This record gives sequence, C-alpha cells and structure tokens, in this order.
Amino acid sequence: MGVVPGGGSAPAPQSHPGRIERALEGGPYRGFGETQDPGTHSVPGAPEENTRERPQGSGTRPALQGGRTFYLETFGCQMNEHDSEKVAGVLLARGYRQVESPEVAAVILYNTCSIREKAAQKIFSRLGEYRFTRKEGQVIGVLGCLAQQEGEEIFARAPWVSLVCGSASYRKLPEFIKELEAGNTRVTGLETDTDETFETEMTRRDNPWRAYLTIIEGCDKACTYCVVPFTRGPERSRASASVLEEVQQIADLGYTEVQLLGQTVNSYADPSARRMRFSELLVAVAEVPGIRRVRFMTSHPRDFGKDIVEAIEAVPALCDHVHLPVQSGSTAVLRAMARTYTREEYLEKIAMLRGAKRRISITTDLIVGFPGETEKEFEETLSLMDAAQYDGAFSFKYSPRPNTPSLKMEDAIPEEEKSRRLGILQGRQREIQIARNARLVGEVFEVLVEGKSRRENQWMGHTSCNRVLNFTSRGEEILGHYVQVRVTGAGPNSLVGEG
Ligand code: SAH
Ligand code: SF4
Ligand code: F3S
Repeated sequence: MGVVPGGGSAPAPQSHPGRIERALEGGPYRGFGETQDPGTHSVPGAPEENTRERPQGSGTRPALQGGRTFYLETFGCQMNEHDSEKVAGVLLARGYRQVESPEVAAVILYNTCSIREKAAQKIFSRLGEYRFTRKEGQVIGVLGCLAQQEGEEIFARAPWVSLVCGSASYRKLPEFIKELEAGNTRVTGLETDTDETFETEMTRRDNPWRAYLTIIEGCDKACTYCVVPFTRGPERSRASASVLEEVQQIADLGYTEVQLLGQTVNSYADPSARRMRFSELLVAVAEVPGIRRVRFMTSHPRDFGKDIVEAIEAVPALCDHVHLPVQSGSTAVLRAMARTYTREEYLEKIAMLRGAKRRISITTDLIVGFPGETEKEFEETLSLMDAAQYDGAFSFKYSPRPNTPSLKMEDAIPEEEKSRRLGILQGRQREIQIARNARLVGEVFEVLVEGKSRRENQWMGHTSCNRVLNFTSRGEEILGHYVQVRVTGAGPNSLVGEG
C-alpha cells in the first residue's frame, strides 16, 4: 500500500485538537446520492459525523448559571455548515464555550434552511419544543435562511425567540451578541443589501479533513422556484487576494483539502483590480503550498466554460468532480424555471466534460413535479439522465416557496404524482450508478483517509472524484494521509477496496 503523507512532508493535521477523535467517532459514511433527505442536505459529500464539541462542564448543573455556553445546530447546505463554523468562531472568541446539548446552553442557536417546505417545518417544530421548556435567561436565536425569509414573523410564531438574523447580516453578529448579553430580548438582522461578506479571522472549522471557504455569497440568478436570492441576498465575490490568504491559513493549519463554496461558485467575479477569472483562482488555490485537493460547489451551467475543464485537465490538485445541477431535462420546464439554458446547451456542457483529457465525475440536482410538468417533459428528464450518465444525483419534489414566482404558476402537480415521478427517477439513477461504479472495480484510486470503522483494519475516505471508498488496510496511523486503494467491489453509493 502506498501511503503518501498529506501536504508534502506534513503528517496528518495536528493543529485541531479533537479532529482525529471526532473522525473516529463518525458513524457510517455515505457517498453519492445516498442521502435523499430533502430537508437537510442539498449537496453530495456532506460530512455525516457529529462534529459538535462534547460538553466540557459537569453536565448536571444548567450551564446558563455558569454563563457563556452556546449550542449551535445547523440545517441546510455546506454554505450553512461553513457559516456555522464562522458563527462558532465569533462566539468562541468572545469567551463562549460550545456544548452538545441545548438544555445546558445559555445561548441556543439554529442555523436554518428554507429551501423546501419540509426544511422550514422542521425548524418550527424544533422551536416549538421550547414553548414550555425554555429556561429563565436562556437565549434562543434563529440564524440563516429561514430567519431571513420569515423575519419578525418568527417572533410572532415563537415569542420565546430573541434573535433573528439572516446570513447577509452576519458581519454584525458580534454586535448582536453584545446586545443580547446586555439583556436585549428582540434583536434582528435582516438586511440583504449588505456589500460586505462575513469574513472573520475566527472560523472554528468542524470538518477535520475538508476546509470550506466561501468565495461568493448570495445569488443573482432568479430561478423561479428558489428562495436563495431572497434569503442570501445579491451575489458578492471575495477579493482573490483575500481568498488566497485564507487558503494559506487553511494549509498552515494542516489541511490538504479545500472546498470553495458558492451557490453559483463559478459565477465568481473578482472585485479586486486583479480581476482573476474563476478558473484562474482555482489554479492559484491549487498552487498554495500544502494544498493537495481543491473542490468547488455549486456550478451553474450558464457560467460553466471550457476554461474550467482545461484547468482541471492541467492541474492534478483540482479534483475530478463537477456538481452541475440541471433541474430538468425539458427545455420548456427549464424556461419556466428561468434556468437560462436549454436541454441542448446543457448537454453540450456534459459533452465538454466527458470529452476532457481527465475523467471527470459529474453529479447533479433534479426537481420533479414543477408546476405544469407533463408526463412527456418528465420523461425528457429521464432521457437526459440516460444521456448524461451522472455519477450521483440529488433529486427533490418541487416544493412551493414563499415569494417565489413559481408559487403563482398554475397546474400544480399533485403530491402523489410528484412522489411517483421521484420514485421512478431515483430508480433510474440508482441503475446508472450501479453500472458506472461496477466499471471501476479493479482500478486504483488515491483516497484521503477520513475515518476508521469499529471493525478492525477498516477505513474510509473519499476519492478525488468524491466517491466514498470503504477499504481494508493493515496500515497504522493512516488517518489524514493519502493512500492508494484498489477497488474490489461497488454498490450504487460507494466503493469497497483494499489498501
Ligand atoms: N445554487 C444551486 C442549488 C441551490 S439549492 C444551483 O443553482 O444549482 C439546492 C437544490 O435544491 C437545487 O439545485 C434544487 O434542485 C433544489 N431546490 C431548490 N429550490 C427548490 C424547491 N422550491 N423545490 C424543490 N427543490 C428545490
Ligand atoms: Fe437558487 Fe437558481 Fe440561485 Fe441556485 S442559481 S441558488 S437554484 S436561484
Ligand atoms: Fe438552505 Fe439557505 Fe443553503 S435555503 S440550501 S441553507 S442557501
């Protein structure tokens, strides 16, 4: 087995106490398409391990008497996960300590998602639990997309909440926390026209192997079904120098893998005089000493150009995986969704990716049952899936959302019909994944080792193409290292192998 230490001569990252322990605690890992919980995760490869800190106090006396403790729970996409890392960083810097259970926390924070109705419902039911159980002096705050979407309505529905703050106002979070500490019981931060991103020196990174970094906030696309332009505000890119500086810090911490985030990450527009293109930024990030893997998510098909493929072809550190949501295979539905591309234009992008000199994995997001979607249009989505041969897909039933243009569209599809279409689509995708993964048996992949199973000599990691590979190895101390693993078996969502 070839063990390659991560990041040149650097061994497994050491600068995060608790990283390895947390990774070891991790439960079963999932791969592409394995999670279909539409309320919690919208992107593949989301970390599953419980990354929260363990409570450090005695645990018997309510910590609010002891002062500054917070509990933070995150729903939604990786951008939310990463925002929570920054929120935690800000609170830790103010002397707060993170605890694992809301009962013992002085401040309880939910970083929320409202992408689909179920996600929003889940949060309101969570908040409802505090109607009778909230302790005297306990602060409950709602952050993130639901906060932005519902605004002060949250106070009306759950009067025991004291803070409502959308992600576009996070730069003011330290001030808000100060106000709460001063005893203020109604603090809101709901602007979306802020021109500053939430940059903080104090990010507390949770994922021990993959460091997230937001390079573009908000979204200027106006897909007719989507709340994100309302909840995260307009697009704002970070200056390339600031991105590269943070990548250097990430590398200095011992990380070898970085994932650049944005709702439309490839619409990145460097606001500085350097005017770096997204593909140039990718290359520059990959060149930062110590960085060995660079990922990015999510790409919008309209802004996905040949230059990105050429960068991946030329630079091995750029991972061979692109998440390119299509949403529908019907040009008529795509037009109704205002996705700004046709079926044919999208398939040209796929052909460009499949024609690359390096094999590139492609994953996608799909919506079934958009208003007015006919059976024939749904079948066009199935035929597009056959043509595109995705390596993974996240699929959802259309969910009508407040303020979105599609809310007023006629010919809603009944719930049962949406479920039927989703079932068919997921069945088709499963077959595609079984066949595609089976073809990888016998190949050798480089894996970043991220977890150890309770079973002896059993390890888990991700390939560059973002597949989960569970493998046996007699190696010791391989966590955080890159190892070569031969694939011996394949399922629809993950591979097995021997290192
Ligand atoms: N910015 C990304 C995706 C953001 S949300 C993009 O443009 O592709 C993640 C996924 O949730 C979307 O790709 C879409 O498939 C799904 N989604 C968003 N709004 C939805 C809605 N109202 N109903 C069902 N699925 C939705
Ligand atoms: Fe939503 Fe469309 Fe923006 Fe993606 S590109 S976040 S789907 S509006
Ligand atoms: Fe959800 Fe907001 Fe992300 S709505 S998917 S948390 S951008």
